[in-house]
Amino acid sequence: MPQVTFLTNAGKVAPAPEEPTSLLRISIREKGGIPFKCGGGLCGTCKCLIEAGRENVDAIKPKERKHLSEEQFAAGWRMACQTFVLGDVSVSWPPPPPKPGSPRP
Ligand code: FES
Repeated sequence: MPQVTFLTNAGKVAPAPEEPTSLLRISIREKGGIPFKCGGGLCGTCKCLIEAGRENVDAIKPKERKHLSEEQFAAGWRMACQTFVLGDVSVSWPPPPPKPGSPRP
C-alpha cells in the first residue's frame, strides 16, 4: 500500500489507497494537515512541495497552472487537491501565517 509522509506535520505517515486518490483527500482523511479551502483547484491554498516521490504523482492539471509557475513545478510544487497519488510520496507545505494579534515567535 502506498504511503504519504506529511513532513510539515511532524513527519506523520499515512496509508494511501491503492486506487489513485488526491493528495488532499488523503490528507483530510488521515488528518495530514495540508491547508485547503475550496478543494476544487480554485483558491490555491493547497500548494505543497513534493519532496520525495515526484515520480509517484500524476500529471500537472490546467487548474494548477493558474497558481504555480513552471519554475515551481520544476522544483516539485503541486496543488494537493489536483494531484493524485500513485505511490509513496513525502510532502511539505508552508506553515500558515501568524494570526493577527498572536505573539511573534
Ligand atoms: S484547495 Fe483550493 S485549490 Fe486546492
